[in-house]
Amino acid sequence: MPALTLERLLASMGYGSRKESRALVRMGLVELDGNVLEDPFMEFAERPESITVNGEEVPTVDKLYVMMHKPLDVECSHNARDHQSVFSLLPDRFTAMGIQTVGRLDADSEGLLLLSNQGDFIHKVESPKKGLLKRYRVTLAREFTEAQKQELLKGVMLKGERREVLAREIEVEGDSVIVAIGEGLYHQVRRMFAAVGNHVETLERISIGPVQLDASLGRGGWRFLTDEEVSSLS
Ligand code: URA
Repeated sequence: MPALTLERLLASMGYGSRKESRALVRMGLVELDGNVLEDPFMEFAERPESITVNGEEVPTVDKLYVMMHKPLDVECSHNARDHQSVFSLLPDRFTAMGIQTVGRLDADSEGLLLLSNQGDFIHKVESPKKGLLKRYRVTLAREFTEAQKQELLKGVMLKGERREVLAREIEVEGDSVIVAIGEGLYHQVRRMFAAVGNHVETLERISIGPVQLDASLGRGGWRFLTDEEVSSLS
C-alpha cells in the first residue's frame, strides 16, 4: 500500500484530486494541532483523529456512516427534481466520497435516514434477510380499527407485488400508530394502510434495527454513527 501522505489523506476525505488537495496545503489552509502543514508529501504512520481544513476541524475518516433527521420536502436522490436533495444538507466532500442513502424515505416522509459510502454496509442494512425492523410513527386520516390492525399483522397483498407483506408489530400511542416492517418496498407503509382502507397523513421513521433517531438532531441535522451503532447494524 502506498504511504499515507498528507495529499492522499485529504483526497480520501473528499477534498478533491491529489492535485487539488496539494493546492489546499500550498495555500496554507491545512493545520494539525494548531500548526500549519506545509508539505503535501509528509507521511503519516497512521491517520490522525482530526485535521483542520480551511478553519474547520474535521475527523479524517474515509468510511462514512451517517444518521440524518430527514426533513419533509427533501428528496433522497442525487438528482432531485422537485425538491432539495438530502445530499445538499451534508458537506460537499461527502458526495465526492461516494455517499449514498441506505434505503429511502419519500419526500413527504421525515425521520431517521442512514447514509454511507460503504456498499457492504448499505447492502446488509437494506437486505430483508438481515431482518432489521424499521419502525414508523404514522398518523391516519380515519379511525384505526382492531380489524385493520389484525389484517396488517396477518399480511396484505399490495398491487404489483408477488407476495403479501405484513406489519411485524403495531402499537397505538395516543393519536399515532407505531408500525414495524421488515422490508423497504416503494411507499410500503402508505400502501399497507391504504390496503386496509385507511390513509397515512404523516409518516416519520423512528428507528432501524436497534438504532433510534437521535432526539437531539433537529430536522436536517446529522451526525456520524458511533462505532457501536455501526456494529449493531452490520
Ligand atoms: N413507507 C412509506 O410509505 N414511505 C416511506 O418514506 C417509508 C416507508
